[in-house]
Amino acid sequence: MKYTLLFALAALFFPRFSALLAQPEKSAEAKLIVSADLGKYTISRHIYGHFSEHLGHCIYGGYWVGENSPIPNTRGIRNDVVGALKEIQIPNLRWPGGCFADEYHWQDGIGPRDQRPKMVNTHWGGVTEDNSFGTHEFMDLCEQLGTEPYICGNVGSGSVEEMSKWVEYLTFDGISPMAELRRKNGRDKAWKMQFWAVGNENWGCGGNMTPEFYADQYKRYATFCRNYQENRLLKVAGGANSNDYNWTETLMKKIPIWQMWGISLHYYTTDWENKGPATGFSEKQYFETIERCLNIPRVIDKHITVMDKYDPEKKVALVIDEWGTWFNVEPGTNPGFLFQQNTLRDAFVAGIHLNEFNKRCDRIKMANIAQTINVLQALIFTQDDKMVLTPTYHVFNLYKVHHEAMLLPSDMTCGDYMLDGEKKLPVLNASASKDKNGLIHVSIVNIDPKIDVDLTIDLRGSTVKEVIGKILTAPDITMLNSFENPKTIVPTDFDNAKITKEGIKVKMPAKSIVVLELK
Ligand code: AHR
Repeated sequence: MKYTLLFALAALFFPRFSALLAQPEKSAEAKLIVSADLGKYTISRHIYGHFSEHLGHCIYGGYWVGENSPIPNTRGIRNDVVGALKEIQIPNLRWPGGCFADEYHWQDGIGPRDQRPKMVNTHWGGVTEDNSFGTHEFMDLCEQLGTEPYICGNVGSGSVEEMSKWVEYLTFDGISPMAELRRKNGRDKAWKMQFWAVGNENWGCGGNMTPEFYADQYKRYATFCRNYQENRLLKVAGGANSNDYNWTETLMKKIPIWQMWGISLHYYTTDWENKGPATGFSEKQYFETIERCLNIPRVIDKHITVMDKYDPEKKVALVIDEWGTWFNVEPGTNPGFLFQQNTLRDAFVAGIHLNEFNKRCDRIKMANIAQTINVLQALIFTQDDKMVLTPTYHVFNLYKVHHEAMLLPSDMTCGDYMLDGEKKLPVLNASASKDKNGLIHVSIVNIDPKIDVDLTIDLRGSTVKEVIGKILTAPDITMLNSFENPKTIVPTDFDNAKITKEGIKVKMPAKSIVVLELK
């Protein structure tokens, strides 16, 4: 009693002391309730989508090496990259931008390559874009990957006519000027194409518009993006930057629900004033990155609340078509190329985002990490004929079990990861789903760099006979995969989950991601 009073007084006057008391020495406890019989919504595989822009070495050197390259390729597209992306079952690919989309004129990227006009890529390093990778090359890439194209049309510097003709060129199978032009360029049959964005970041690089002006523009452009024959476009209105809820509200108010399939949202995990290094960061910088990342559910939920007001039946999708970390470029690289390394910290950012997207799959139907290769939070790095898979890649590979699975409601009770005994973040983050074969998957992130967590999963509405799992971790949060050591961080088998009378007991190691399969 005497000691309790003493501790209480000390905690009152010295908050650091109270935090110390709360912090476990070696391991903490947590509980996750998963309701296996209460699933209602399907996690669209398109939440696991990608974004590849004409930026730095994403397209050129990343995908495209040209037919005459000594690097093994199929019609100019790298075979190693296609193989790696097929492995993660890449569901869709957003192209050609980003900011580049609103200065891209698609007709410059068709026809004989040596006759295509060159342009300046004003946003990204001022380099010459020779247009050798254009519509046919992109659609060939999508066919090689078995992925759905998601094209972003030009509103900022393009015309309604230009966008309308691009849709006709791609999707019309009859007799028309654009269909004839496509045939002349070697493609007889129209492509099938669903996802279509009407501009990008039109509040900024896409034209510095007001939401009212953009909403009117959207209606004009979208009207003339026609559904030819059986093809049905799913049109996405260019949405808000981060916490600009007024942008979302104005679009929801002004654009009729029948005229858009989705509204986009861009949210980067960054401090725009001081992005910090991608490698060699301090624990404080690590904490702050994860803190910003854990802010995304709050931002998303506010946008969803606005959408619910105008669309309570959730007919319009929220499409988070740019997300991920944004750090300083690697020293000595072109600042316009946005090349940054990728560590275990990035893997956690990916794992948390994907868990949070899964949990809101009744509204979020699509998301695209920025960007697939050699840019921002990349999944793949290439250097000449070499390729390395980043920790972020491995998260997408582990989480692919959630594609098209039924979201299972889950509720986590856990302690905190504490920095300096003062600042705190919930130590675990998770989501769960049941696939069409009845297998339950739970993906869990332990962000604490030092403390293991003893997690009990209370699975309700189902019984389980066997648990297997995979883990992604490393001795340090700053570790990465390099060309010299490409396998520093790779998934390995996880055997620290046991079925007991009290539930499934999981020893979640510090700084790890675990994906469990419950049979
Ligand atoms: O992903 C890099 C850039 O970030 C995109 O081009 C733009 O849309 C965003 O601001």
